[in-house]
Amino acid sequence: MLGIIGGTGLTQLQNLNITRRQIARTPYGEASQPLIFGDLVGQEAVFLARHGAGHTIPPHAVNYRANIWALHSVGVTHLLAIATVGGIRSDLAPGDIVLPHQIIDYTHGRNNTFHDGIELPVKHIDFTEPYSIKLHQICKAAAANIGQNLHDGGVYACVQGPRLETAAEINRLERDGATIVGMTGMPEAVLARELGLHYAALCPVVNHAAGRGNSKQSIQFDDIITTLDCTMQQVRNLIAEIARVHKTA
Ligand code: HPA
Repeated sequence: MLGIIGGTGLTQLQNLNITRRQIARTPYGEASQPLIFGDLVGQEAVFLARHGAGHTIPPHAVNYRANIWALHSVGVTHLLAIATVGGIRSDLAPGDIVLPHQIIDYTHGRNNTFHDGIELPVKHIDFTEPYSIKLHQICKAAAANIGQNLHDGGVYACVQGPRLETAAEINRLERDGATIVGMTGMPEAVLARELGLHYAALCPVVNHAAGRGNSKQSIQFDDIITTLDCTMQQVRNLIAEIARVHKTA
């Protein structure tokens, strides 16, 4: 089954015909909200808003383990995450959508493994390719089908937040090889890998990163809202097509 984690700007999925809601209690606590099951272009899918229904949970306080465990336990095999980002590389502008292929993790203090020797035994997993190649290909095919521009590949720097970065921090991230910056990609991706899920992320760029483009002096939050409004309909259309391609894959 396809699971979708919605981020900022996507707390509900309008094209999901909801059939039921299920409170998700896990050994790690409750997920961000009840799981929302429904029919998405003719197949069952499940949706979860990462920051809760009212967008009240900040990135560092999301119970990533509960979210991923809950989705896995109801039969999700392919998990598509939506995660807004700031664009670091100069060709990435607000309104673009990036399909990253790599991650650098700058977070700290987050519960970032199931293999802590409590629920699951200690184990080291391979994470060379942090995103599922299969789901990445499905996303690319879906974008091509509907003529949606997608930046294929990107290096996602996951920062702790909730504050945005300084210009010097963005310069450092760029020197490290990052092209986009967000706050929620980790530990979500690694937890999905630990449970064997195919995980990919669609990253709408909602602002130029600090010190770049029109964020040279400061990041304009009004502009972020405007960009979110314009971009999310494209993201919804893309999710629907990804669900279609996934059904036949
Ligand atoms: N930095 C970190 N996270 C973000 C940004 C950003 O500029 N934009 C959206 N999420």
